[in-house]
Formats: sequence, C-alpha cells, structure tokens
Amino acid sequence: MTHSLFLLPGDGIGTEIMAEVEKVIAWTNAEQLTDFVTDRGLAGGSAYDKHQVAITDEDTQKALAADAVMFGAVGGPKWDHVAYEQRPEAALLRLRKEMAVFANLRPAICYPALADASSLKRELVEGLDILIVRELTGGVYFGEPKTITDLGNGQKRGIDTQVYETYEIDRIARVAFDLARTRNNRVHSADKKNVMKSGVLWDEVVKGVAQDYPDVKLEHILADNAAMQLVRNPKQFDVLVTDNLFGDVLSDEAAQLTGSIGMLPSASLGDKKANGLPSALYEPIHGSAPDIAGQGLANPIASILSFAMCLRYSFGMKDEAARLEKAVDQVLADGFRTGDIMQPGMTKVGTTAMTDAILKALDKSA
Ligand code: IPM
Ligand code: MG
Repeated sequence: MTHSLFLLPGDGIGTEIMAEVEKVIAWTNAEQLTDFVTDRGLAGGSAYDKHQVAITDEDTQKALAADAVMFGAVGGPKWDHVAYEQRPEAALLRLRKEMAVFANLRPAICYPALADASSLKRELVEGLDILIVRELTGGVYFGEPKTITDLGNGQKRGIDTQVYETYEIDRIARVAFDLARTRNNRVHSADKKNVMKSGVLWDEVVKGVAQDYPDVKLEHILADNAAMQLVRNPKQFDVLVTDNLFGDVLSDEAAQLTGSIGMLPSASLGDKKANGLPSALYEPIHGSAPDIAGQGLANPIASILSFAMCLRYSFGMKDEAARLEKAVDQVLADGFRTGDIMQPGMTKVGTTAMTDAILKALDKSA
C-alpha cells in the first residue's frame, strides 16, 4: 500500500539532513519494505524568502493531507528582523495546531558509546532512557489573550495566557500511561500546582486518568523539582508527562543529559484520521544550526531516527523501525562520528558518509 510523506526541510541544516532521510526512504522502498511517495514544501525562513509567510496555506493543506510529515528545522539570524507573525517558528506552531498533534514524544536516550559526551558523570547517564510526553497544542503557547498592550503611561503590559481544559489533560495523560505500559510502567506528572490553577486541574485530571491504569505507578512532581531531579538523578524517570511550556524546557534539559542532542528524534501525534492513521509530524529535537549549515557537517542521525519513529507510530512497522535503530547503534559502535559527537580515536565523518554507513549496516542486517 502506498503512503504519502510530506517533507518540510526548513532552514539551515534542515535541508541537508532531509536529503539523508530521503536516502533512507529510498532504501526502504528499494527493499520493498515500504512504498512511500514523497512531496516537499517550504517552511520557516525559506518559505518567508519566497512567499513572505512562514508556511503557505497550500503547504499547510498538503501537510494535513499527507499520511505523515517529516520536518527538518527552522530559523536563523537571517530572519531575526521578520515580524513576529511570520517568524520561522510560526510555521511549526501553525502545523502543530492545524494538524492537532497534541502529543509530543521526546525520547532522551543515552547511547553507551556517547555517555562521555554528557555534561554529567557517566554513571549518572549511562543507560538513561526517559520519554518526555509534552502536551503540544495548548497551554501558554496558544492561550488567548496573547498581546502587548500600551497602558498609556509610558508602560506596556505583555500578556500570555496559560489555559488547559479537562479533555486536553485527559488525552495527553492517556498517551503517557499507554506508553508507560510499553516501558517500565512509571509516570511522573510535572506541573506547578503550588502556584497555578491550571496546574491544580492538571494534577486532578492526571490522577483521575491513573485510576484506569492501576498497573502504572504515577508520581506527582513539581516542575521546578523535576528540572533539578533531571540533573541530580535522571535515571529515576521513565515517562515524564507535562504541559507545553514545561515540556519545552524539560525536554531540552533531558536532551543535553544524553550528550547527544544531534541524535534525538521526536514524534508529534494526534488522533486517528479517517484513513486510520494518526495525524503525525516527525522532527529532530535539534535546531537549524546556521553556523554549520551547507558544509556537510551536520549529524543526520536525529532525522533518520525520526523516520524510524514514523515507521513505528504512523505505519506500525515496528520491526523495520527497530532495524533502522539497530543500524544506527551499529555505526556508533563501529566508531563513526560526526563532529558534534566526535571523541578521540573515532572515525570522523560528514553528513553523507554517516548516512552511507547506516545504509551499509542496514544492508548487512537483512
Ligand atoms: C521545540 C522548539 C519550539 C517550541 C520552537 C522552535 C517554537 O523549541 O520544538 O521545542 O518552543 O516548541
Ligand atoms: Mg524547545
């Protein structure tokens, strides 16, 4: 059965790493594991340069119609002057909202081969495997009012609104509990119920959902304490579920623990569509890295692993996803490293050579 993938490379290294994803897509097609057809559009600064918007209506429609969206990265100093509504990040926020991908899965895995690249001691991070489940379409990112008003006395007031309704908390909590069942059956729920009403509701709803999952252990944690515990003893976490803003912050922190932000993929999922497939967007955790863009230096692994997540979560191709993930493990074990994860004694490679090594490992794993 043919499936459609809409590719939005974005800006900076986004273009280079998406080219590598295309090679892996071509490989899976050639092996007759999949039958993917791809189309591509513009997002972020590259869309702005051509159309003066962060993403066009046409490309947004294509993203909505596709079976899954593969996203690269957006942004860069070139677009610092652009109006707030058209800044590169607006493309991502529009897609998240219109595709209604409310569940953002951000695994933070410490690869044994890279444990020394973490800023924490090896023993604290070796074997780390946390899954952050971030609510992605609500909270302060989208709440209204969201404005700056002039108070007329030389002062202005900036307002963002944190707002959550029961159903939004209920559905993200269920995603977290369901995923915990495929892992170690533990969920931490992080909020600031000690100062925020939305936090009080968050905790109340999560505790209600937990009643349906007696086999999963739920622990409440204040978001600030979660930030501290992540650097004190990160291995205490299995699944960490939290709101949009805390999830943004805590997932960057968790990514850095692994020493390999260039390695981490993510999936943003919504409800099933009429064709039975979930609304889905996949993207690396890292940004557009304008400083190394266009030089063939970028690490393609996070995007390639995002494609593995796509195989697993959109198309139920668990074996193929695992095979791709194993191929990545293999090239790391073989000593291949891009600049961002380079260590003494390893083989330094560029973007395309890294993908070629992964494809070779895939061939061998047949
Ligand atoms: C992320 C990013 C985005 C966010 C930006 C680029 C809008 O930081 O995906 O974590 O804040 O959600
Ligand atoms: Mg972020």
